[in-house]
Amino acid sequence: MQFNNTIIYFEENLAKLTKFKQEFNLNKYFIIIDNNVYNIYKSELDKFFLNAKYIIIPSGEEHKNINTVFKIIDELLEENITRGDTIIGIGGGVTSDIVGFVASIVYRGIKHVIIPTTLLAMVDATMGGKCGVDYKGRKNIIGSFYEPKGIYICPLFLKTLSKEQYESGLGEVIKYRYLADFPLLEYNDIIEIIKKCILIKKEYVEDDFKDKGIRMCLNLGHTFGHVIELKHNLLHGLAVLEGIDMIFNLEIDLGFSVYKEQKYFKKLLNKYNITLKGYDYRNYIEDIYGDKKNFNGILNLVFVKDFKPFLYKISKDELYDKINNRK
Ligand code: GLY
Repeated sequence: MQFNNTIIYFEENLAKLTKFKQEFNLNKYFIIIDNNVYNIYKSELDKFFLNAKYIIIPSGEEHKNINTVFKIIDELLEENITRGDTIIGIGGGVTSDIVGFVASIVYRGIKHVIIPTTLLAMVDATMGGKCGVDYKGRKNIIGSFYEPKGIYICPLFLKTLSKEQYESGLGEVIKYRYLADFPLLEYNDIIEIIKKCILIKKEYVEDDFKDKGIRMCLNLGHTFGHVIELKHNLLHGLAVLEGIDMIFNLEIDLGFSVYKEQKYFKKLLNKYNITLKGYDYRNYIEDIYGDKKNFNGILNLVFVKDFKPFLYKISKDELYDKINNRK
């Protein structure tokens, strides 16, 4: 599948990695890999990346920072990386965010490809070119738009994913239910689900690569979600689910009717056996107005109506006024 400037491969196992390497002309490359993935898959990967230089990075959002970026660049320079070389990123969303960012700044941009190993990375993080790191307690505040040339999606990796990581991926999957005509309750095959999510994302990204308008709808659940994620140390997709729940409650307090969307949300959570903590959005209003999506004091909140997203621009004072006047 072509996704903007990226070619996405869907393969049942790793056997097609040889073809993938040929396709992208991967002669001299460096592999940046998540520590957990390396421990589980090293011997399997060695069959395809014999004598490769692995740069192993620690797992977890707390390592998605500029220090990890500098450590990787130090290693790449020690290995005499040149402009024509390629970086291969193997891991989840944190890895693909870091690897994309490194690829975008070394020599002002070198080729990279990604092998996502989590559901979240397969349905969202790897495609669309958004990459970067967290800084001073804020998510993705340093970053760039830089797309991988290729992505190799192989559901085999999902077999070794922890329950929490799988649920986190489902968080982003559930988000897509509200971005397009996607009767998720009727879908059961994970490959079909992954493909559908990517197709939905593709529409938004190809219309608005630089995230100035319609693409912002992909951030449904993220405005509160990002704050919750860092404050309460939740996995990204689970924080997005909390964020969607909070947005529905806010919408209701502002007089919008999202009862049928909320009902569907609850059915999906039941189906996937996910229990939310249920944070009160009122306690996080100050935090969201410190988020990077805040332009001149006005936030573009992603709301939902009739299972479709729309952007709702509002300042903090207006928001407080509206909530307080309805109570
Ligand atoms: N993850 C949201 C986006 O790529 O725009």
